[in-house]
Amino acid sequence: MEHIYNIAKFVHVISFVFMSIPLFNLIIVNERALMGPSLNYETDRYFENIIKRGAIRCFVFQWTVFISGVIILTLGPGLTAIWTNWVLTVKTLILLLLMSLLSYVHFSVQPKIEKLLVSLSPGQPAPEDLSVKLVPFRVQRKKLATICLFLVITAIIFGVQTYNRFHPFVSIALIFLAAGFSHRANKSLIRFGWF
Ligand code: HEM
Repeated sequence: MEHIYNIAKFVHVISFVFMSIPLFNLIIVNERALMGPSLNYETDRYFENIIKRGAIRCFVFQWTVFISGVIILTLGPGLTAIWTNWVLTVKTLILLLLMSLLSYVHFSVQPKIEKLLVSLSPGQPAPEDLSVKLVPFRVQRKKLATICLFLVITAIIFGVQTYNRFHPFVSIALIFLAAGFSHRANKSLIRFGWF
């Protein structure tokens, strides 16, 4: 049982590392912005495919975090710890919020972008008003990716305190840094990793 516990803990940690998709999507979006506002079939289809398929990968990693979390609790203090350990309660709520935001982007925002992109064909100039129509949805998706990145980092800040707590000031300072980094990833290419 100890081995299963350790393997589930490893799977738990590796899955939320892979949940960093919002960070890489923000980098891709900022790289796309550098290429200028004009639409191009190959570039925009490539860009949208990465983002669209990234959502499915992220669902899988989110569920793996949840299921591995349930396994380590079942083999450890029991599932009731979700309610009795406030850090676990917060982490679970953040995970549910992340799943809801991703569902909203994948099932509501992305289909609207896909519907608009149908009018973009290879070798043909883009319809004149397409860029203007696309912008609000792309801006909304970018804002939501930034919020998701902040929530993922915050869940990790709580995750490492599941049993041993930091001083509240340390947690608050780390959450502020998480907000600063998420804002920076939204506005820049973070060419030097953190900056
Ligand atoms: C986005 C959501 C989550 C993130 C980012 C996350 C992250 C983490 C991290 C970083 C650890 C620390 C590992 C260590 O210090 O050794 C951890 C441990 C743990 N997590 Fe999560 N977690 C999340 C959701 C959950 C959920 C939903 C559950 C339960 C249903 C859960 C249950 C646990 C338990 C029981 C541990 C302690 C394992 C141990 O130290 O033996 N986690 N988590």
